Amino acid sequence: MSKTRIAVLVSGGGTNLQALIDAEKSGIIKNGSIALVISNNTNAYALERARTAGIETAVVLRKELGSAEAFEAELKRILTEHGIELIVLAGFMAILGKGFTDAYPERIINVHPSLIPSFCGKGFYGLHVHEAALAYGVKVTGATVHFVNEIPDGGRIILQKAVEIREGDTPEVLQRRVMEEAEWQILPRAVEQVAKEIKELK
Ligand code: GAR
Repeated sequence: MSKTRIAVLVSGGGTNLQALIDAEKSGIIKNGSIALVISNNTNAYALERARTAGIETAVVLRKELGSAEAFEAELKRILTEHGIELIVLAGFMAILGKGFTDAYPERIINVHPSLIPSFCGKGFYGLHVHEAALAYGVKVTGATVHFVNEIPDGGRIILQKAVEIREGDTPEVLQRRVMEEAEWQILPRAVEQVAKEIKELK
């Protein structure tokens, strides 16, 4: 049976993409292969990481395509063209509509930097999530990997990991700790788990 073909969708720095690339190299991900990286931002450093790893890249710009529908249609076209079976949102800062998510039931996964259902949904992304956690005063936060449906951050949870908040944390310090201790650990494990399930169904 061939490995599950994975596309990673990114918008920024791509440290989660790097964790996936490293996990494939080290054998943590063995039932899937990252075949494509798609960015909705031409300047995303994540694209550089993909090129360095020898992974094919594509850039899809919503502004150029005019509408969310056209943007999602173009994403679908590229994913189909590359025979993609599993889509991983790794710091992808665009909300995908029902027309898109319904086309890939339990075939899209996302990493979110909090313990869902806290600090999630529309407007909670990137550093804002950690700002909100610190403003609320919670003592524990973490990361969640979940399937993606039409509800932002609303799909079935695959893995979660808790991270302690410390006295004097800034949003930046907390973001880094959540990445190191949680996101970079659970995202590769969840990807391997789902890639294996898809492979076994073939
Ligand atoms: C990560 O913390 C990721 O969980 C978050 O953005 C960061 C991207 O970093 N994603 C969201 O907030 C999605 N709602 P990266 O580009 O270095 O992986």
